[in-house]
Amino acid sequence: MKIEQGKSLKSLNTFGIEAEAKYFTEIRSVDEFRELARDKRFSGEKKLVLGGGSNVLLTGDFDGWVVKNSISGIETVSETETDVLVRAGAGEVWHDLVMGCIQKNYGGLENLSLIPGLVGAAPIQNIGAYGAELKDTFYELEAIEISSGEPVKFSAMDCVFGYRDSVFKHKLKNQFLIISVSFKLAKLSHAKVAYRFRTEYGDLHRTLGGMKIQSISLQAVSDAICQIRRAKLPDPKELGNAGSFFKNPSISQAQFKTLVSQHSKMPHYLQLDGRVKIPAGWLIEQCGWKGKTVGPVGSHKDQALVLVNYGGATGQEILEFSEAIRQSVKDRFGIELTPEVNIV
Ligand code: FAD
Ligand code: EPU
Repeated sequence: MKIEQGKSLKSLNTFGIEAEAKYFTEIRSVDEFRELARDKRFSGEKKLVLGGGSNVLLTGDFDGWVVKNSISGIETVSETETDVLVRAGAGEVWHDLVMGCIQKNYGGLENLSLIPGLVGAAPIQNIGAYGAELKDTFYELEAIEISSGEPVKFSAMDCVFGYRDSVFKHKLKNQFLIISVSFKLAKLSHAKVAYRFRTEYGDLHRTLGGMKIQSISLQAVSDAICQIRRAKLPDPKELGNAGSFFKNPSISQAQFKTLVSQHSKMPHYLQLDGRVKIPAGWLIEQCGWKGKTVGPVGSHKDQALVLVNYGGATGQEILEFSEAIRQSVKDRFGIELTPEVNIV
């Protein structure tokens, strides 16, 4: 375990923003974390746990301790004839876990293929894509309370998962270091398993239709999703970004009726709770931001909801750009956008 000072975080956040951490330590085990927690300087500092840095906006240097979680290991905890419980260390790459499960013919994570980042961050915002969310297969997570060093297990109910949301973004923000996450997955190799593939999402349905596959499989769903994602979303290795910058807002039926009478082409999705979800990308595009740049910052030309760093942008510049977008969507539609990205 190494304690570094004045560490550059540029290669550790997918926006590619230059920012320094006062202290920085990469931990590879719980024991290393305990050793770190014994350092006299540690308790007095503000902390930030970092995974792959694909959902953070660093608005300046971090005046505290950045702990990069690299705890590895994937294991089968238990299994029945039809289900398997898989536990993954927080430092495992999310997409590698998904690929490993597909290879073993374990169903449940395939719709979440190619989401950047590490396993430990996945419950923080209950990652979701193409009709699935982490909570659909989540079993439990193990964490350590940073202030006391106490190990704690969280069930799905404890996590209070919502759309891009969990208790770790609110009441328990920055208080726990997640060390592993377990998933209950279906064993497709077993004849008794009647697995329901989730292929209803428009883009996914269309892409699978065009793939000329003989029969649906976990691999086919994953391949289709990877194809869509590669075509739609900029690769952070080539263009700094953190995926969707804002969440898709949901509005009341009354507000929806007023808006749709003025904008008949407004895309919308009725939610189970009766509210209506509007794609933030559409709202942003309507306000004229799509493909627009201000200095080194821009809204992506193919996906208005993805803000990009064309090179050398500061976190403050990205934040100011996002504020201008938020204000114009509010002025034009009366809808308040909420950032999905964690602003640090
Ligand atoms: P980080 O950015 O490092 O951290 C995110 C938050 O989690 C921070 O608040 C951090 O403090 C906290 N955290 C991280 N690890 C731990 C830990 N071990 N213990 C406690 N707290 C922790 N997200 C989706 O949901 N769906 C998508 O389809 C999607 N597509 C994306 C596409 C692109 C191109 C990009 C760049 C991002 C996309 N994202 C998407 C967002 C992002 O990939 C996810 O939120 C991912 O889970 C973040 O993982 P990370 O390891 O990079 O987290
Ligand atoms: N749209 C526009 N203009 C744009 C972009 C989108 O009009 O520039 C409209 C279109 O009508 C399009 C609709 O928005 O049909 C939805 O767009 P898309 O399918 O690209 O999905 P999204 O709503 O923008 C969400 C998630 C993504 C996730 C995809 C697939 C949020 C905030 N974003 O994006 O997650 O991958 O659906 O499920 O929910 C992320 O969280 O970082 C992320 C990338």
